Amino acid sequence: MLIVLSHQKGGVGKSTIAWNLATGLQNKKYAIELVDLDVQQTLFYTNEIRKQNTKLNPLIVKQFGTVNDFKMYIQGDSENRISVIDVGGFDSDMARVAIASADLVITPVSDKNFELLGVKTFEKTLKAISTVINDTVVVKVLLNNLNPRKSKIDDLVIFLNKSSHFELMDSILRTRVDFDRSVGEGKNVIEYDKKSKASKEIKNLIKETIHILNI
Ligand SMILES: Nc1ncnc2c1ncn2[C@@H]1O[C@H](COP(=O)(O)OP(=O)(O)O)[C@@H](O)[C@H]1O
Ligand SMILES: [Mg+2]
Repeated sequence: MLIVLSHQKGGVGKSTIAWNLATGLQNKKYAIELVDLDVQQTLFYTNEIRKQNTKLNPLIVKQFGTVNDFKMYIQGDSENRISVIDVGGFDSDMARVAIASADLVITPVSDKNFELLGVKTFEKTLKAISTVINDTVVVKVLLNNLNPRKSKIDDLVIFLNKSSHFELMDSILRTRVDFDRSVGEGKNVIEYDKKSKASKEIKNLIKETIHILNI
């Protein structure tokens, strides 16, 4: 199973969500692997912090230097392995391979004014991939980092509903300081504070992901 966090726009929450999903799905049923394709290696280093806390289970983090190595890894995909792939914040051959092979692509989008522009650019990439694989690539948009009080997302939602490449997820993540604080300790938001609003939101996302993939 391949879960891909992708958007060619940086700073939207791909790494944050990949981290919370991968650690949140860790249990005996699945072998979870976190694939960090980002040159910044954010998640590789967060996992190094996690390794220092003996109460936490570290993740298996994979990194690939070439598209071919990454393709070989994808060929080894199986029903009982879940790979959560953070592709990094730009359009690349690796990102396109990941999107084309994914069982689920999650694209975080916020309520900031530049977001609609970013989504429109990403749609062009999705159209190009769709042409290559002769199938319509559909990604799930996860509204992330939304203002906890009110968010202006009308234009964005109208655009997403019209496009054949996007579907909105039911889960929503709002701006919560715990997303930043928890990674500093190598934790996910649930491990950091299981009663927080961020925890509740991530639990909903995990549930929705399990439902979509039927796992
Ligand atoms: N829901 C959220 N609430 C608060 N901060 C968030 C949220 N999502 C992401 N962030 C913060 O935004 C910044 C960018 O997130 P990151 O996951 O690194 O984005 P990307 O991987 O897409 O570049 C980080 O500092 C992260 O802590
Ligand atoms: Mg990132």
